[in-house]
Amino acid sequence: MSLTRVAVLTMLVVSAAVFAGAVDYDNDFAKQLKFECPQDEVVTSVYSKFDGDAVDRRFKFGCGPAPGNARPRQCVWTDGFVNKVESAMAFMCPANHLVAGVASVYDSVSSDRRMKIKCCRQPGFRTNSCYFTEYLNNWTDPLDYTIAGNKVLTGWLSMHDNGHQDRRNRMVECQYGPNKP
Ligand SMILES: *[C@@H]1O[C@H](CO)[C@@H](O)[C@H](O)[C@H]1NC(C)=O
Repeated sequence: MSLTRVAVLTMLVVSAAVFAGAVDYDNDFAKQLKFECPQDEVVTSVYSKFDGDAVDRRFKFGCGPAPGNARPRQCVWTDGFVNKVESAMAFMCPANHLVAGVASVYDSVSSDRRMKIKCCRQPGFRTNSCYFTEYLNNWTDPLDYTIAGNKVLTGWLSMHDNGHQDRRNRMVECQYGPNKP
């Protein structure tokens, strides 16, 4: 292949990637979301962007290992949804569990999502020194959240606004380690 052909092909591939958008979201607008980290990993990042035409957000989750070489693999999904449409959400995993999956369904009447969350634990490890982050996004602004490497995500809070048809989000973070270090 000539250098020119290589250059043209490279440009095509690059522009296709740019056109498709760099973020490979875990849900489509108005569609169901179901995301689970690989076994032994927990959620370490959440990126989300609002779209005014769709009146919805798409989400991209990232996973990583838990601190202290923990392997949290005793997992539970919440029984039902953890929030009602157009209402505040205040979700905490059961004691010593870490967020390892998120699911949601879109309600087109309210243009809002209801969420279910998967939480996992490893016996012998516990959370401590938990706190709430500040709000991580303004109305209709992107959410770009990455937890510090030595912290774990154990809860998710949000408030809803009917005017913006959107949610502002904040997280619950904790320290994590063995019961007897
Ligand atoms: C929200 O907007 C205010 C005012 O512009 C700004 O000071 C603040 O940093 C924003 N917060 C976030 C999480 O983007």
